[in-house]
Amino acid sequence: MHIYNIYGGRRLRGELYIQGSKNAVIPLIAAALLNKDVTIIDNCPQISDVYRMTDVLTRIGCIVHREEGAIVIDASQIHSNMIYGQCARSVRGSVLYMGALLARCGYAVMDFPGGCHIGKRPVDYHIDALRKMGADISIEENRIVCKSRGLKGCVIRLPFPSVGATENIILAGMGACGITVIENAAREPEITELCRMLSKMGARIDGAGTQTIRISGRIVPREVRYSVMSDRIAAGTYACAAAVTGGDIYCLINRNDAMTGIVDIFRSMGLNIDYGNDYIRVSAHRRIKALSYVRTEPYPGFPTDMQSQLMSVLSVADGNSVIEENIFENRFHIVDELLKMGADIHTENGRAYIKGVPALSGSELYAKDLRGGAALIIAGLSSEGRTVVYDPGYIDRGYENIAHNINMLGGNIHLAQTE
Ligand code: EPZ
Repeated sequence: MHIYNIYGGRRLRGELYIQGSKNAVIPLIAAALLNKDVTIIDNCPQISDVYRMTDVLTRIGCIVHREEGAIVIDASQIHSNMIYGQCARSVRGSVLYMGALLARCGYAVMDFPGGCHIGKRPVDYHIDALRKMGADISIEENRIVCKSRGLKGCVIRLPFPSVGATENIILAGMGACGITVIENAAREPEITELCRMLSKMGARIDGAGTQTIRISGRIVPREVRYSVMSDRIAAGTYACAAAVTGGDIYCLINRNDAMTGIVDIFRSMGLNIDYGNDYIRVSAHRRIKALSYVRTEPYPGFPTDMQSQLMSVLSVADGNSVIEENIFENRFHIVDELLKMGADIHTENGRAYIKGVPALSGSELYAKDLRGGAALIIAGLSSEGRTVVYDPGYIDRGYENIAHNINMLGGNIHLAQTE
């Protein structure tokens, strides 16, 4: 079994190149299935969720290989429409193969997707939307069976600006006759990335990044190369590590507009933020200020994927804070772990009430999801002594070389094997 050993109390300082975005590259990998030629995705992070997504493609006949920082996907030939197996079941993004396969060949049989256990993670918005586009979808032996003799464009109003459902409708729209309009669409930067790559493939998509997206036109099979944006959540995560260590880090990122909603909260905590086109610098010269109330919201609000990391920071802030989680119903897993370190937190009705303590103490902690695991590393870096984080595999789903990066900045964290 692997663990992370973390020795806290050291300031993080220096420059860090931020990896490609997990939540942007996953839909791009699904979109590659639409292209009966080669799709090359540059700046692709080396993380286990990417391997799981591409393993699914390999199993249905695609040829996938890595070239330096890029992933090369040849989807000219596929020999199956069955999205089965542990890889499909372990990653939320596999649900996007439903829209892509319906668009490409009108048939798909899918295991239900996986993903972090931060809520029920239903796919009803996806299924309802694809049915409205003309797909015949049934649940047989706990699998999703999708058939279509031709998708048709229509207006789909999402009950909630679901990121995945928006992406699935866009992918299916690539194979629909007529125009598909998504109302109440998700506005996350990762949606814009998908639309930018599909446009490079020949599609016509208007309104990406707004609440109304119009999808028309089909992609043209041709070799396409696209470089994925930086991971805004990874950047925010390292910024939180700098915040709790009195650090000063300079993150190299592209598309810093994606940091909206994160930067405002960081400034409210008293962090010094300076950012330009391709960097964001975060420095902490004093104890973090508490936040009387912060809530997670769809973009451009404060992202739910930063909630756990923020909780670790506010655990040692000067004062009392309240965090309200509005996106997922079970995303406070780290509270029990932080309490082991001496944090003062209680939760009620989707809110975490945090009384900042002067310092946390090292302890033995268990990661239970991707962002929660990263949050435990942040807590370990802030505390005196040794912290052990079990189940680091959760963290490796989304963070490329996190220990190496933290050590490069002056931290002390190592992966170790235990019996
Ligand atoms: C994406 O998940 C991200 N994952 C999540 O990141 C992120 O937290 C989430 O969007 C919100 O920003 C990827 O992009 C791979 P949703 P997704 O559909 O698409 C409910 C991380 O740590 N819902 O926007 O699954 C759902 O239960 C991960 O990187 C339905 O009820 O999120 C949730 O309460 C975690 N029915 C809300 O909508 C549906 O059919 C938002 O979910 C779909 C969603």
